[in-house]
Amino acid sequence: MTSRKKLIAGNWKMNKTSADASALVAGIVEAVGRQTDVDVVVCPPFTSLESVAKALEGSTVKLGAQNMHHEAGGAFTGEISAPMLRGLFATHVILGHSERRAYFGETDAAINQKVLAALKNQLRPIFCVGETLAEREAGATLKVVQTQLEAGLQGVNQDQASSVVIAYEPVWAIGTGKVATTEQAQEVHAFIRGLLTKLFAAPIAGKVRILYGGSMKPSNAPELLAQKDIDGGLIGGASLEARSFVELVNAAIAAK
Ligand code: 13P
Repeated sequence: MTSRKKLIAGNWKMNKTSADASALVAGIVEAVGRQTDVDVVVCPPFTSLESVAKALEGSTVKLGAQNMHHEAGGAFTGEISAPMLRGLFATHVILGHSERRAYFGETDAAINQKVLAALKNQLRPIFCVGETLAEREAGATLKVVQTQLEAGLQGVNQDQASSVVIAYEPVWAIGTGKVATTEQAQEVHAFIRGLLTKLFAAPIAGKVRILYGGSMKPSNAPELLAQKDIDGGLIGGASLEARSFVELVNAAIAAK
């Protein structure tokens, strides 16, 4: 039993046309759109934010984006800003996902600028950290997570900190079907909680939700969600079908 409300977030990545997104969100809203036991966020591609926002009206499911630029506007072809996301009623934004770090060259410093911009615009960052397989095998997991966490949260003040959501996503577990064991995940989550306690006051660190991400499915979710410092999940593959996503939300309700 913890005072932190569990959170299940779906990262749809580069999937779903606008029409497909509307169908998926309709199924989610129908099944879990009224419950308030856990927080639920869906993060469609930018092209579906507006239609998904409309479908979420009147429900308890919240809207998130998958990335944004740190500037509010200007000559940044192809980019999207925090005020634009707010204009579409987004409340959350995934930042620093390992796919953005690996394929789009996002650095800790760039991610930090985005985290600060999101908070300034009342968007809750779902800030991702996690080690690669090579880093885990080299025994560097905690060091890597510490570096990413401290760099990404630089300049975040005590008042803002409890709005941040952290997602621990071991890169080797993303889309691979290889889920971290509950012990591996809980160890890193507890370590992150400890770091947050050093960076911010203990009561604030106690409020921050730390999600697990990486091949989380209805079959492995109950055990992961039962861990003391695992406050929910950031779901990729299993968020692309209403049925499995809803099962994950129900697993979080059962674990609350
Ligand atoms: P999978 O659930 O497909 O492993 O993806 C996890 C993830 O990257 C969520 O952001």
